[in-house]
Amino acid sequence: MSQSGPVSKTVAADLVFVPKASAIAREAGACLREFLARGVETEYKGDVDLVTVADRTVEKLIRTRLSETFPDHGIYGEEGTRDRLDQEYRWYVDPLDGTTNFAHGIPHFCVSMGLERRTPSIAPELDGQVVAGVIYDPILDELYCAERGRGATLNGRPMHASKVPDLAESLVATGFPSRKRHDNPNVHFYHEFTLRSHGVRRAGSAALDLAYVACGRFEAFWEFNLNPWDTAAGFLLVEEAGGRISDFAGGPFQLNSREVLASNGLIHDELVGLFQDMFAGRDISPIPTPEEFAAKRAEKVR
Ligand code: IPD
Ligand code: CA
Ligand code: CA
Repeated sequence: MSQSGPVSKTVAADLVFVPKASAIAREAGACLREFLARGVETEYKGDVDLVTVADRTVEKLIRTRLSETFPDHGIYGEEGTRDRLDQEYRWYVDPLDGTTNFAHGIPHFCVSMGLERRTPSIAPELDGQVVAGVIYDPILDELYCAERGRGATLNGRPMHASKVPDLAESLVATGFPSRKRHDNPNVHFYHEFTLRSHGVRRAGSAALDLAYVACGRFEAFWEFNLNPWDTAAGFLLVEEAGGRISDFAGGPFQLNSREVLASNGLIHDELVGLFQDMFAGRDISPIPTPEEFAAKRAEKVR
């Protein structure tokens, strides 16, 4: 149920953080577009974890703009920014989500900025509440926004999660980490979800994956080992668009919980049940061994 069709109402701009954050995300996105056109060198942060001058420059730009605009707010950025973390408000910033795509010239990446409201004087160790989120895709010029309690929008129009009622009719998405790849079991989940749905996309930007759940393009998204800069904005977009987000057991999603399961809400219990079965080793479709596959292939060739 895509929201790309005509939508009658444009959301009124009585929003507190989104208008200014959107302007910053747009400026950051324009900068990414220029870097993409120019081409950039890629460096390795570790294993296959890539970083470019674009990641660093755009984080610096966002840091400057956020500090000018919201001088009392903290900033926690993927590329190392740690400013004013004792403050009530804290932005989680991914200046370029989808670096691997970007480095290979694939035009699917975004800027992601999520704002958490914390209670540092009472419980500094606890997650606060995400109160605003902005994700900007500079290639499609798509701006996804939400403020808590005020709904979610795509380019200013209300957006909603899809109405698909079961996994069998769903298109879902996932991602894989670029660090500690051998510890990650996700390929088994990828296989099982592929067999039980319309398919699984691994498009390369977790923040856009969450935005796509929020606007009804994907019915669900899951990933192991994400960070708050990947999920903070998308978390709120999904909730405000009427979807659901949790850990793999269906418990509350926390910014530091790392595992994320987001859906249109309607298929959420089914997904949690599948995760339970998978973790318990129940009802898993076997992946043919290389020997079994070679034997089957030889049978067909004859
Ligand atoms: C990555 C992307 C990718 C996801 C990885 C993330 P980055 O973020 O969101 O889709 O699968 O786990 O690390 O490195 O491009 O900002
Ligand atoms: Ca990221
Ligand atoms: Ca990034």
